[in-house]
Order: sequence, then structure tokens, then C-alpha cells
Amino acid sequence: MLKKVKLSPDGFERTVWSVNGQHPGPIIQANKGDRIVVNVTNNFGDHATIHWHGMFQNGTNWYDGVPGQTQCPIPNHVSLIYDFSTADQHGTYWYHSHFFAQYLDGLRGSLIVHDPDDPYLKDYDFEYVVSLSEWHHNTTGAILPLFEAPGYAGLRPIPDSPLISGRGRYNCTAAPPGSKCKSDPPLAVYNVKKNKKYRFRIINSAGDAVFVFSIDQHKLKVIETEGVYVKPTIIEKLPINVGQRYSVIVEANQPIGNYWIRGTLDKRCTPNNNATINSNSAIDWNGLGILHYEGAKHEPKSKESNETFTPCRDLDQKHLQPIHPVTKFDGHLTDFINATITFAPDDDNILRALINGSSFVPQMNDPTLNKITRQFPPQNLPKEQNSLIFNNKNGIVEIELWNNNPATHPFHMHGHLFGVMFVGEQGQKPDRSKYNTKNPIVRDTISLPGNGVLVVRFISDNPGIWAFHCHIEWHVELGMVMEFVELPNILKKKVIPNDVVSLCIESDFQKNKRSPTLPPSRRAFNPITINEIRSDINIDQ
Ligand code: C2O
Ligand code: CU
Repeated sequence: MLKKVKLSPDGFERTVWSVNGQHPGPIIQANKGDRIVVNVTNNFGDHATIHWHGMFQNGTNWYDGVPGQTQCPIPNHVSLIYDFSTADQHGTYWYHSHFFAQYLDGLRGSLIVHDPDDPYLKDYDFEYVVSLSEWHHNTTGAILPLFEAPGYAGLRPIPDSPLISGRGRYNCTAAPPGSKCKSDPPLAVYNVKKNKKYRFRIINSAGDAVFVFSIDQHKLKVIETEGVYVKPTIIEKLPINVGQRYSVIVEANQPIGNYWIRGTLDKRCTPNNNATINSNSAIDWNGLGILHYEGAKHEPKSKESNETFTPCRDLDQKHLQPIHPVTKFDGHLTDFINATITFAPDDDNILRALINGSSFVPQMNDPTLNKITRQFPPQNLPKEQNSLIFNNKNGIVEIELWNNNPATHPFHMHGHLFGVMFVGEQGQKPDRSKYNTKNPIVRDTISLPGNGVLVVRFISDNPGIWAFHCHIEWHVELGMVMEFVELPNILKKKVIPNDVVSLCIESDFQKNKRSPTLPPSRRAFNPITINEIRSDINIDQ
């Protein structure tokens, strides 16, 4: 149930767009091969969708949750049952609203797909989920009009707190008069037993910020990137950009005690000047949680690791080597796309993000998927849809993405994992003869360096409309989105379920009255089967 409630994640009370009254929403867990069925009843008072970040949705494109691309948004007081298979996917995922910047107001949670064949299963005793996000005291409904005001220079709004698994601490003396704020609210505590090993699944579910995750005096053994098992390597600090996920194994091998878990917002990646929205934020950039050994009494006094890394860049590729080389991106290219990202003001002096000169504008009332299934010719899609059409079944598609501005952009691809051929800094040029086609890094979200260039490949084997966009939500709002129209000749023969199509009847954002009549076959569903949950204590994420 989606509903607005008052919550105080960092001590400061505000209205939160919650899932079942919680923020973050409940952790959804399934096994590889399971079917996930989620009945979403929208009582927000505005429209909503849920996107399942990282799930391929092969055969169920209409449940990808992208308004204007795969569905009309769910009106208020209307339910939609999302129903999809995890197929052979496993690993660490999350879900979030894809309707405007609504997920920053609360609609987000973790989605874990367990793998009975996990090659690392014997290397850890328990597992935990850590979500990292920034938190704003103002709603995005208040922030967006400022952000998209004529003449605003485009620096992203400064948050008020970092949150670790939904908890943070705000300095209440800075809260405006009349607000409700309680100092020193509880932090997220992760309980461990000496000499046990823990898999931490770390998810950056923020709207903007690069986080640096670490646990004082404990090493992190990296084993997963976005559902891909990687060769184990040891790090102390994990830089993680928006939308990315990692699993690390942590051994509780230190003296019994309490240790700081750090989720530090990397200030170096968040430009700020006096004109920036909320530039006088009282934010403490150093988010904290606690690793609590059974039997420990005293407050943590631990010190942060001084390991260094390149700021605003992904974790070095040497830590991301798949355990089994992925060779499917090696071969004859069937499609090649060259795209350049720029920013420019439009005719009303409102800043827009452009991809090859075109800023994305969704048609919320008539999603691309609906157009294609009613035989609309893909080549006639409106220009501002930023559509890229791929017609070659099982073809290898290469995308070269150039960044014409100094910001780092975490690009996320729906419906696919991609192989990373090349990541170039300013001045570096892609050279196909040097691409790592034989054993590339494979993931679904990657940082495009400021003024740099990125080359990725994916296989066009998933008929659907798939977004490819920067995951900085503010940049999405400015239009930094492309859409893949993948295998339209297959897609146009599909039939979108009635209850999904019927969302469009009332999607004029005015009348929120109709309650849905779902066909009986879609009302009955089987609950998710979970054979084994290897978590001992699930703190409320
Ligand atoms: Cu988390 Cu369009 O994605
Ligand atoms: Cu961006």
C-alpha cells in the first residue's frame, strides 16, 4: 500500500511517500526462478509507478514501471499487480518509483534475489542489506519547481542528511522554527557475532549522491556487482554511485566492540555554490551506522580507514572481474549508436539536458509500449522520446556515450546487463582495437566520467521499451533519458494485460476517482516462495 505518512528518518519530521507506512519500503526477497507478485494500491493522492531496478522483465515489459515508456502511471485509489519472474537472475536489486522524483520522497526499497547455487554460499554465515540514500526535508514537489525555474543554473539541490538503511542524524538546532525535530535518533545497527562472516548487500538508492561505504577496522571482500559474481578482492572503502549495488563479505574478526559503519556522501562530487538550492544545508555529510558485536558495550570510538581512491569514479575495474569471463559481447556489431550529452537552456530559459540535441519528454498518457502494440511505426515516434530502434535479434549493440560537461553521470540501462568496453577520461578517445571484448566488466549502472566517454555493449535479446538514463533524478527531470525500442517486430505482436492498459483511461492527472476492476485471473496469485532466507536479524532495513 502506497500512502503518505509522517516519519522522522533523521529526527526531522516530514511527510513521506511510504510503502506500507515504511521508509525504505519492505525488503522483497525471492529465490532465483521465483515469480514476484506485488499488489500495489496507490493511496498517495498523486500518481505512482514502481520500477524493479535491474530486473530484465523478459516477456513482461509492461511491468517495468516506467511511465510514458511501459505504462501509464497508476492513478490515486487504483491498484496494479506487478507480476514478473526473476527467471535466472539473482543478486542485489531495488525498487523505486519512476514517476517524477517521487522515489526521493520515499517510494524505494531493496529487492534481493537469493541464489541456491551461489558460489560464495559457504563463505558467509549471514547476510544483511544496507541501503544508502540522501534525504531532503522538503518534498520534491517543492524542490522541482525551484530546480526547473527559468534561469536556475542547474546545480543539484543539497540534501539535509545522508541515510544508512533509512536512518540518519540531523542537527535539530538548524531546523526551522515550528518544525518537529528530535536530536540523536537511533542509527542503523547491524548485529554480528565474533568470528562469523557476513554478506553485506550495499545499494545506493539515492537520487543524486556518490556514497563511500566502509566499516572501521574491517576489510570488505567484494563478491558481487549488480547480480554478477566477481572474483574476490579486498578493499576498505567502497565508492558507490546512484543505482549501483555491491555485495561484500565482512568477517567479524576484530576485538568485541562497536565499530562505525560509514556511508559518507562524497562532497567532492556534489557541486555547490551560493545559488544552489539548500546551499546553507546543515547536513553532516558523514552518515553513520553501527556494527555491533554481541557482548559489546561502549559507543564506537573507531577510526576511519585512510584508503584512497579516485573521487567520483567507480570502484576500480580490477575489483569487478566476473568469475566467469563473459564472451557474448565479442563479435560482429549489428548496431552502433553515438550519443553526446549536453546541457542548454530552452526557449523559456529553463535548463534542459540534451542527448544528441534532444531532451526527453515522456508522454505519460500514451506510453511508447502502447503505441508499438497498436502498430504505430517506431520510426514515427516523437523526437523528444529519444528512441533508439534495434531490429537485430540477438545482435550486438554498441553505444558510445560522450559527456560534454564536467559532472559524472551514473547511467543505468533497463532490461539488460551491459559489457563495459571502455571508460575514458577527458581527452581519451575510444579505440575499438583496445576494447576488452573477451572478458569485460558486466553491470547495469556505470559512471560516465565528467567530460569523458563510455563505450558499452549489450545484446538485443529482450523485446521491449527500455530506458537508458542518468540515474541522477534531477538530470532525469531535465530530460537525460533515452529509450530503446528493442525488437519492435516481436514486440508489436504482444498483448499488454488489460489492467495495465486500463491505467491509461484515467491518466489525465485530473480525475482520480475510478477504482479498478481487475479481471479475476489477475486477482488470484501465488505468494512468493522463499526456500531459504539467510538473514538473522532484519533491522527495518
Ligand atoms: Cu533505477 Cu530507470 O531506474
Ligand atoms: Cu546525470
